[in-house]
Amino acid sequence: MFQVKTTAGASKSVRYRELFDQLTGLLVDESDWLANTANCAALLYQGIPGLNWAGFYFMRGGELVLGPFQGKVACVRLQVGRGVCGTAAQRRQTVIVPDVTRFPGHIACDPASRSEIVVPLPQGDKLIGVLDLDSPAIAHFDQTDVDGLERIIGLLLQRSDFRFLCA
Ligand code: SME
Repeated sequence: MFQVKTTAGASKSVRYRELFDQLTGLLVDESDWLANTANCAALLYQGIPGLNWAGFYFMRGGELVLGPFQGKVACVRLQVGRGVCGTAAQRRQTVIVPDVTRFPGHIACDPASRSEIVVPLPQGDKLIGVLDLDSPAIAHFDQTDVDGLERIIGLLLQRSDFRFLCA
C-alpha cells in the first residue's frame, strides 16, 4: 500500500521535494496517462495542506474537459480563454489567483474556493490540458507553488504516454 508522506511542519519547498520524490516512485513502472494523472491528483490533494480541490482538465475538441480529480463534483467543460483554467490554457502560463471573487470570469464550481492556481500541460507546441488546485483560503498559493508544481508537471509529462488521449 502506498502512503503519501510529508514531513510535518516542513517548509513548502521541502514538501514539494518530498512530493516530487514520491511521484517519481509512483511513475517508475507506469506510463499510462490516465493512471498517472489520477494518482498525481490524489498525491497532491493529500500532500498539500489546505486544498479543497485538485485535478486535471484535458483538451478535447477545442475545450477543456474534466479529468481525474479529488474533491467535490466539478464543472465538466470549460472554454479556453474563460475562467482561471481557460486563461492559463490560452496563455500557456501558470496563473495564480489570490482571490477568485476579484477575478473576472472566474467559474465557481465550489463556492468555498477562494484562491486558485492553474498550471498548463504543454507538449511541444500543443496544450494537453491543465492542472487546477483550489483552496478555501485567500492567497494560499505563491511562487513556491509555481516552482514545485511546474517541476511535478514536468516529471508527469516526461514519464507518461499521452498518445491515447484523443484531443
Ligand atoms: N474555477 C475554475 C473552474 C474549475 S473548478 O475550480 C474545479 C476556473 O475558473 O476555471
